[in-house]
Amino acid sequence: MASNQIESVLKENRTFAPPQKFIDNSVLSQADFDALNARAEEDHAGFWGELARAEIDWQQDFGQALDDSDAPFFKWFVGGKLNVSHNCIDRHLADKADKLAFIWENDAGDEVRRITFQEFHDEVCRFANGLKALGVGKGDRVVIYMPMVPEAVYAMQACARIGAIHSVVFGGFSSEALRDRINDAEAKLLITADGNLRGGKEVPLKSMTDKALDAGCPSIEKSVVLLHAGLDVGMNPDRDISWADVVAGQSTECEPEWVDAEHPLFILYTSGSTGKPKGVQHSTGGYLLGAIMTNKWVFDLHADDIYWCTADVGWITGHTYICYGPTAVGVTQIMFEGVPTYPDAGRFWRMVQDHNVTIFYTAPTAIRALMKAGDDIPKDYDLSSLRLLGTVGEPINPEAWMWYRETIGKNNCPIVDTWWQTETGSIMISPLPGQTTLKPGSCTRPLPGIAATIYDEEGNEVTQPNVGGYLVVTKPWPSMLRTVWGDDQRFRDAYFFKFGNHVYIAGDSAQRDDDEYFWILGRIDDVVNVSGHRLGTMEVESALVAHKAVAEAAVVGFPHEVKGEAIMAFVVLKSGYADEEGLDQELRKHVTEQLGALARPEEVRIAEGLPKTRSGKIMRRLLKSIAKGEDITQDTSTLENPAILDQLRG
Ligand code: WTA
Repeated sequence: MASNQIESVLKENRTFAPPQKFIDNSVLSQADFDALNARAEEDHAGFWGELARAEIDWQQDFGQALDDSDAPFFKWFVGGKLNVSHNCIDRHLADKADKLAFIWENDAGDEVRRITFQEFHDEVCRFANGLKALGVGKGDRVVIYMPMVPEAVYAMQACARIGAIHSVVFGGFSSEALRDRINDAEAKLLITADGNLRGGKEVPLKSMTDKALDAGCPSIEKSVVLLHAGLDVGMNPDRDISWADVVAGQSTECEPEWVDAEHPLFILYTSGSTGKPKGVQHSTGGYLLGAIMTNKWVFDLHADDIYWCTADVGWITGHTYICYGPTAVGVTQIMFEGVPTYPDAGRFWRMVQDHNVTIFYTAPTAIRALMKAGDDIPKDYDLSSLRLLGTVGEPINPEAWMWYRETIGKNNCPIVDTWWQTETGSIMISPLPGQTTLKPGSCTRPLPGIAATIYDEEGNEVTQPNVGGYLVVTKPWPSMLRTVWGDDQRFRDAYFFKFGNHVYIAGDSAQRDDDEYFWILGRIDDVVNVSGHRLGTMEVESALVAHKAVAEAAVVGFPHEVKGEAIMAFVVLKSGYADEEGLDQELRKHVTEQLGALARPEEVRIAEGLPKTRSGKIMRRLLKSIAKGEDITQDTSTLENPAILDQLRG
C-alpha cells in the first residue's frame, strides 16, 4: 500500500456498529459466535471436526480430524470420503430442485439465463459423463480457460464430480501464461470457448489457446470448445471437440466419484516473489468446509438471499465465492459475464436493482472506479434490496469505504472487508456483519478457528498495538493449501521459511490497534497488487528481458488512484538499440502479449543503467521512491553513475 494511503488508514477512528435490524435478523447471534470461539480455543481440531460432520455430506466418515504428524503437510478429516459436487448440488435436490442456483447476465445485457439446481445438476452430470467419455478420470488435470459463463462453473463442478483436478486460468492471461500453466500441471484436457466478451470487446480465447497448444503442450490430448461468442474459429479435427458434441447423448445422471478428503480438488496458479507462478494445491474436504463456513459466517446467508460476488472464476474468489461456497450452501447467485463500466458505470447498480441483490461482494478497485464515475449514477437506481456489502483482494482506502457505505449501502448495510489469499482457500480475517463494529479500512478480527496473529523478526508475537510485523497463522486450518503442485520444497520455502513448520507466513505485513483489529499494511515480498490481482515483479521483468531490445529491467509498484497499485518498469537497452519514439509503447504491448493486459506497465522508463549497490544488487527501494515521485532520501553515494537518477526520474 502507498505510504500516504497507510497514513490515512492508520489515522482512521470512525466506528460503525451493525444496524439493529441486521443484528435482529442475523442467522447466528453473538452468543453463537462466542460459543464457536470458545470451542475452537478449547479443542482446535475437534472444533473443525464437529463442523465438518455437521456441514458436509460424507460418504464415509473420517477418523482423525487433523493429522499434523508431517508438518507443514497437514491432513484434515483423514479417512473420510466425499464428493464436492454432490455437496454443492445433489444434496439440495430434495427440497431445492426448482430453486435458482444462477441468474446469469451476458456482457451486452440483453440476455438473462435462469438456472435451477436441477438444471445445474443435469448440465454438470452430462458434461461429467462427456469428460469420462474423453478418457478423463480421477487425478487427471484439466485446464479451464473460459469466459464468465455458467459452463465455466459446470466444467469445474464436472471435474470435481469425477475426481479430476481442475486448474482454471483467468481468461485475461496471455497464451504464453496459459501454456506455462498447462505444462506445469501436465494437463490432459483443455476446456475453452471461441471467445470471451467483456465490455463489448471480443477476446479470442480459441486462437490464444491454439497458439499455446501449437507452441508445445505435449500433455494435452483434447481441447473442448464452447461456442459462445459467435466467433469464427477453426477446429482442429485431431484435437478440438465442441462442448455440444461432448454432451450430446450423455445422461443427466453421473454417480459421483467418492474421493478421500485430502484428494486434490484443484490447482490455482498465483504469483510470488521468485520464479514462475506457483500451483497452489487445494484439498477436497478441508477446502469445502472453509468455503461453507465462511459463506455462512461472513455473508449471513438466508434462504431468500440473492447473492452476487463479482469476481471471475479465474481467481480464488470466483472459486470459493461463486463455484463452491454459495452452491454448497444452496443460495441463489448472480453470475455476470461483463465488466462494471459497460455499457456505462451504472451496470452493477442496474443489475442490483433488476435482480433484487441482497448481498454484494466486490473488489476495492471496482469501487474506486465507480466512485470516480460520480454519485449521480448510483442515485438513478433502486438499491434498497441490498443488506450486506463486501470487499476483497486489496486494502480498501477509507474514502472508498465511506462512499461504498453511504452511496451504495445508504448507511444501512454492514461492510465486510475480507482478508484472505489464494493459499488460504477461504476468508480468514473479516467482520461478522451482525456482530462486529466496523472501522473503515480494517478487516477487523480473525474468524472462529483461525489463529491469525502478528510476529516480529524473532518469531515473538507482537502484542503491542500499532506495531507492524509478519501476518502469520499459527495453527493449521482446513482450507489451507496443501502444497505447491509438484514442488513440496517450494511450499516450505514460500510459506514456512522463518518460524518453523507450524507457522504459516502469509507474505503480508500487518498491525493491530487497541481493539485488536487487524490493519493490513501490504506485501513484504516483491508482489504488486494491481486492481486486486497479484503479480510478481520478477514475472514482468522476465517478460521485458525477453524482448530483443532489452538488456535489463526492474519493475516496482507505485500508488494508483483506481488500480491501487500500478507497475512502473525501468529498462536498460542492449547496445545497438536506441530509445526510439514508441519503444516504450512497444514494450508495454510486449508484456501484454507475454503475460496478459493486467501486467502491462503503466509506464516504462528507459535509462542507461539501473541504480545498484556495490555488490551489484538493484536498489529497489530507490526505484520505488522514484516511481512514487518522492524525494530521494536513501544514500546514493555508492552509485556508479549518479547521472542515471535523473534519467530514471523521467
Ligand atoms: C491482499 C485474494 C488488504 C493481500 C483473495 C493478500 C488484502 C493478497 C485483502 C492475496 C484485504 C486480499 N485487505 N489486503 N481485505 N484481501 N488482500 O491470492 O496482500 O489474489 O496477501 O487472494 O491480496 O491475493 P490473492
